[in-house]
Amino acid sequence: MGKVYVFDHPLIQHKLTYIRNKETGTKEFRELIDEVAGLMAYEITRDLPLMDTTVETPVATAKAKVLEGKKLGIIPILRAGLGMVDGIKQLIPTARVGHVGLYRDPETLQPVEYYVKLPSDIEERELLVVDPMLATGGSAVEAIHSLKKRGAKNIRLICIIAAPEGVELVTKEHPDVDIYLAAQDERLNEKGYIIPGLGDAGDRLFGTK
Ligand code: PRP
Ligand code: URA
Repeated sequence: MGKVYVFDHPLIQHKLTYIRNKETGTKEFRELIDEVAGLMAYEITRDLPLMDTTVETPVATAKAKVLEGKKLGIIPILRAGLGMVDGIKQLIPTARVGHVGLYRDPETLQPVEYYVKLPSDIEERELLVVDPMLATGGSAVEAIHSLKKRGAKNIRLICIIAAPEGVELVTKEHPDVDIYLAAQDERLNEKGYIIPGLGDAGDRLFGTK
């Protein structure tokens, strides 16, 4: 069964409060989403494997560590997932970025796939699927399904806010996928919005309505 981690780091929780605030404008909202994504990636990459090496300092040889070179991939679910990519890339600049385009039909709330472009070797990569919102879970489940269909084996899902319904669906449909969150909220409303949530993440990131 997939594990669910909610990060209680004070910086993440502080920034999340400003992300939720309806008075926060597009520029600040974008910056905060990127910052929180970076802080979450910092925690998530704690278990990356290291290997021993040596390095010549100006005065001696030091025993040292470097990353073993595990191949990573960042997969934003379009559109809103794009808002999390730069913050993670700042920490992992060599990560490849693939894109899965999905939108949620406003009537049925079912995800509709419209674009997929991935690194050719996704089966060898540890993939970080990113989307600020996990609401019904339909989009994340479909995106992960789409990646697995194309060979992906190691997938983690990183969302800023989730509803219990979304967590339950992803855990049920993809029990091999761990979920990382900044907050798990109370519920969904009748329109499928997370309560209290932050509103429409894509619209707030891109200044659309
Ligand atoms: C939002 C959000 C998720 C999805 C979550 O995207 O970014 O992808 O809804 O809802 P779900 O868990 O019920 O599927 P939206 O469909 O609004 O598209 P956008 O990112 O293009 O704004
Ligand atoms: N998508 C969003 O952007 N916000 C929600 O609350 C639910 C889905």
